Amino acid sequence: MSIALIVHGGAGTWRPGSDADALAGIRRAVKAGRDILERQGSALDAACAAAVVLEDESVFNAGTGAVLNFDGFVEFDACVMTSHDKGIGAVSGLQRVQNPILVARQVMEMTDHVMLTGDGATRFARVMGHPDYDPVTPARLADWQDKKQKLAFGIGRDPQASMKIRAFLQSHPEYAGGTIGAVALDAQGHLCAATSTGGVTMKLVGRVGDTPLPGCGTYASIDAAVSATGTGEYVVRSFAGREIADRVARGVALDTAMNAVLDQMQADFNADVGFIALDRHGRTVAAHRTAHMPHGWFRNDGLTEARMQA
Ligand code: GLY
Repeated sequence: MSIALIVHGGAGTWRPGSDADALAGIRRAVKAGRDILERQGSALDAACAAAVVLEDESVFNAGTGAVLNFDGFVEFDACVMTSHDKGIGAVSGLQRVQNPILVARQVMEMTDHVMLTGDGATRFARVMGHPDYDPVTPARLADWQDKKQKLAFGIGRDPQASMKIRAFLQSHPEYAGGTIGAVALDAQGHLCAATSTGGVTMKLVGRVGDTPLPGCGTYASIDAAVSATGTGEYVVRSFAGREIADRVARGVALDTAMNAVLDQMQADFNADVGFIALDRHGRTVAAHRTAHMPHGWFRNDGLTEARMQA
C-alpha cells in the first residue's frame, strides 16, 4: 500500500525574497508528515503534523503570522476531514490560539459536532487546553497598517470602502494572503485533508471562507482528498473540493479532474485559486491559477520535492 503526502503554503503572488522561507517551511512540513507515515502512523496524524509546522511558520497565512481582518485582529478558519469514517471537524472565526488545526481535530474527536464558530470555538479551545496566544506578528501588523493608510478609509466615513478594498487587492495581489493545507495517504489506505487559514486580508469581521466548509476548501473521500487555497468565495461557489473528488470517483485522473475544475472556475470567476490533492493510489497533484503556490510532496517512490509553482 502506498503512503504519500502533499502540502501547500497558499496560492497568490509571493513577495520577492519570501520564496526561500516559504520553501524551507514546506520542506519541514513534508518531513514532519513523512516521518509519521513511515512509522505506520495515520493520515490524520501526518496531515495535522504537517499543518502545525506550516501554522507555526510566520511566513504563511495561518496560525502565527495570519492576516488581520478589517478591524485589525485575526479570525482563524480550519478543517480536518478523514475518508474512511467520514470524520469532519472544523472551526471558523476562532481567535487567539496557536494551532487552529488541532482545535478543528478536537471538534471532530471530542464533540458530536462538525463545526464550532466564533466565541464558542474559542471557548472550546480553552476547555481543550489551548492557552491564550497572540498570533499577530510585527510584519502582519505593518501590512495591515500599510493597507489602511493606502486605502485611506475609515469605518462609517467611507461607504465605498469595500469597493476600494476589492480594487486595491486586485492591483496588489501580493496582499491577498493565502492558506496552508496538507493531504495524506496512510498505509491503511486512509486519506485525510487538513486546511488552516487566517482567511483573506481585510475581510469583514465574521466572514467565513472555504477552508472550514467540507466539500469546498477541504474534502476527503475514499477516492481523493483535496485542500484549496486562494479567494475562498470562488471555491465555495464551485464546491470545488467535492467536485474534484467526485470526478475522480467517476474514473477521471486526478490531474485531469483538478485542471477541469480550475478551468471552469476561471471561466466562471477568473478565480485566483489553487489546489493540492492526493488519490487513493498515492498520486499527488498540485495546480493553481496564481503566480505562485509554494507546495511540496513525497511519494512512495521516494520522490520528495518543493516548488513555488506547479
Ligand atoms: N482560501 C482561504 C479563504 O478564502 O479564506
